[in-house]
Amino acid sequence: MADSKTGKNYVHIFDTTLRDGEQSPGCSMNLEEKTRVARALSDLGVDVIEAGFPAASEGDFESVRAIGAMGLSSTICGLSRTRRGDIDAVTRALEGAAKRRLHIFIATSPIHREYKLKMSKSQIIDEACAAIEYGLRDFDEVEITAEDAGRTELAYLTEYFQATVDAGAKILNLPDTVGYVMPEEIRAQYAHINAALNKPDDVILSCHCHNDLGMAVANSLGAIEGGARQVECTINGIGERAGNCSLEEVVMALRTRHDRYGLETGIDTTRIYGTSRLVSMVTGSVVQANKAIVGRNAFAHEAGIHQDGVLKHQDTYEIMRPESVGVPENSLVLGKHSGRHAFRKRLEQLGLPVDEDKFQGVFEKFKRLADLKKSVYDEDIEALVLGQEQEGPWSLDSISIHTDIDSEVHSAEASLKLRFRDHTPRVFSGRGDGPVNAVVNAMQHALGQPMHIDEFQVSSVSEGSDAQGRATVRARVGGEAYRATGVSTDIVDAAAHALLNVVNRYHQRSAQVEANEPLEAA
Ligand code: KIV
Ligand code: ZN
Repeated sequence: MADSKTGKNYVHIFDTTLRDGEQSPGCSMNLEEKTRVARALSDLGVDVIEAGFPAASEGDFESVRAIGAMGLSSTICGLSRTRRGDIDAVTRALEGAAKRRLHIFIATSPIHREYKLKMSKSQIIDEACAAIEYGLRDFDEVEITAEDAGRTELAYLTEYFQATVDAGAKILNLPDTVGYVMPEEIRAQYAHINAALNKPDDVILSCHCHNDLGMAVANSLGAIEGGARQVECTINGIGERAGNCSLEEVVMALRTRHDRYGLETGIDTTRIYGTSRLVSMVTGSVVQANKAIVGRNAFAHEAGIHQDGVLKHQDTYEIMRPESVGVPENSLVLGKHSGRHAFRKRLEQLGLPVDEDKFQGVFEKFKRLADLKKSVYDEDIEALVLGQEQEGPWSLDSISIHTDIDSEVHSAEASLKLRFRDHTPRVFSGRGDGPVNAVVNAMQHALGQPMHIDEFQVSSVSEGSDAQGRATVRARVGGEAYRATGVSTDIVDAAAHALLNVVNRYHQRSAQVEANEPLEAA
């Protein structure tokens, strides 16, 4: 049972998957993906969703605005530097949010003061306080961050936070921005600040730990021991460089070791696995098999002695039950004889959100897939629901491939029948030294400009020789980087869908769809 959210035993979960997580290389998400993740986070029970940094780009602004307008039960937060323009951008983006927070940051460590900001200690305090006062005109809840607090002198940090509390900040965040500190050090840092500040009861300390030395979760627990009552974290621990504190690990550590911490969170842990899978799918960042809590092997007992022990009594080798984090009890395999009821039940067990009006369409896709392959595994169902989002303007009607491979020649020709919105389809052809290369070249003709492929990977979605293939592409078009995936029982078709997703994302981002329409008529 969650303690009252204002109680001393409640740890607020602040999720920054959509801001810090999205900043990690190749983890960018489009608007539709971000709103889907935001809904899952709110259903998971996170207290605060940091939806983005509205002043950073038009795309960030739009996604924070869209998430703010979704009517979610979590507080929606926007990040800002101390500049008024940034704060105004958060205010505008969060106009539609019922519960909202402004999060202001400025660096405090000697190295940042001297080289990045070229500001004195007192100038930084003045700047932070002025920004808080400005922010409080529109926000009831302002969080202040001392960037690189982990490497900031304790006395200065105390002075900075006393001034910012006096200016009206309600949440005080001391990030270990570069993942430098050790658990015992951070515990002592929080204990000192907590005791030294003269602050109202509703002001809380927050931690935000990076994982450069693999300490993010241990350090977050250290900060909690020192008095932090908000943890900033991300699903699957994604984030800048080596990532952030992983939400699932810190939450399950608090729950499993309740005997030690005696603390509560508002997280519905049975939704953890589904949310982890969702984030992995939309970001294309694969969860390592031995990742704690959500990795494929996290609950797999391989050694005979362990299997025997678990069969005799689960507690012999299990400190958590798989079902407590939503790992499906068994890998039920569906096939073409499975009906609506079984399919719907499996979707529920996998924590896959399908709105009622979309269910029929997804079920029909499942039936088509079950006709193509004998067994439909959980991973196939996930790919079906989350994988192949085609948001126009281009769609793929058909592909035809011809390949010539012998000891001297490797060549292929691809013809793609592509449709621009509801216009008559056109055929684009390309040649290459293999079918995927030929598809890339054909796609470039449709795009009307070069597409540089930085990475192309094909992996199997599930098991068996009839398994679906997932193609993941990282590409650059017009100087911008894109990541996209496509899933199909045919790997060339999967590659074509992934590339088509890149083309569509390019069109959406550049907002020059109209300018490209003449291609259709050409
Ligand atoms: O790591 C960091 O310091 C941050 C802040 C902006 C909170 O991400
Ligand atoms: Zn960070």
